[in-house]
Amino acid sequence: MFNKNQNNMDTVLEQEVEQELSKNDKFIVENYEILKPKDIREQLNLSLKAYRGRTSSLVRNGLIISKSSQKKTTTTKRKYTNANGVKKAFARTRMIKHIKESGKVGKVLTLPFKYCTFERKLLKEVSPKFTFVGCERDKEIFFMMLATVIHHKLKMECSPFEIGEKIATARENEFVHAILDYCGQLSSCYEDIRLTMERNIVVVGGTIAITLNNRKTVIGGIEDEMNRLNPIGNQEGYAVENAILTFLTKIGGFRYSIEEVMKYSDPKESGRGSNMLLVIVKRLK
Ligand SMILES: C[S@@+](CC[C@H](N)C(=O)[O-])C[C@H]1O[C@@H](n2cnc3c(N)ncnc32)[C@H](O)[C@@H]1O
Repeated sequence: MFNKNQNNMDTVLEQEVEQELSKNDKFIVENYEILKPKDIREQLNLSLKAYRGRTSSLVRNGLIISKSSQKKTTTTKRKYTNANGVKKAFARTRMIKHIKESGKVGKVLTLPFKYCTFERKLLKEVSPKFTFVGCERDKEIFFMMLATVIHHKLKMECSPFEIGEKIATARENEFVHAILDYCGQLSSCYEDIRLTMERNIVVVGGTIAITLNNRKTVIGGIEDEMNRLNPIGNQEGYAVENAILTFLTKIGGFRYSIEEVMKYSDPKESGRGSNMLLVIVKRLK
């Protein structure tokens, strides 16, 4: 029942954000990294001037990454490919909404990827006073992230190591929010999530956003353990969602609320999308 209602809510919210974009803008966002500009213009019947106007506006809003920035940072080995895309943009919008409502401005722990899209959007839409600790364990991506940080003069301490190292050594209340945008498997990040909550590194009223791959691949791992403890809701297709919600409820106890659960998927160049899950938690006490 909960899952059905949540699905309906997600669809309504998603439609709201998509409605904010015109049909042409949505097409550009989804195809900017895949098609040539000439092909996009032809499909949309846009003049060069009109196309440039739209792409400049989408770059300013953090929905696409300009070709010149892409050239500076593009590599042949692309590990994470979902940075562009309406659905990813929608997930960022939800994280930002909760941050805005919290009223908490200060230092944010984050995984910015090459382009720091989320961080730039947060500075623009909520407050220019945010500062960041940005982690990136992939060396190639790390240097590209550094180039973006320098180019946009972001106030970000950049770490080329596991985010878990920052979490393990952070002081209580050190961060106002933590954006654990892994898009990875729960089995590889649940210890980070546990430490973030148990050590209270985010202030009261602050938020923790977690993104996970919504496909269970490990047998006998954390998902199975959680789903044994709480089999309710562990239906087909809900193994990861049920597991993370059980995990967060057990670790968070009375101190953390679950504010939002949202499924999303982003089309990739191959045309196949990865199913993702966004969960936003708030520290209550
Ligand atoms: C999904 S992307 C982040 C997307 C970005 N927040 C955005 O809005 O576009 C995750 C990035 O974090 C890196 N990463 C994943 N797990 C990490 C970890 N435990 N420590 C440090 N970096 C990690 C990955 O290499 C990847 O570049």
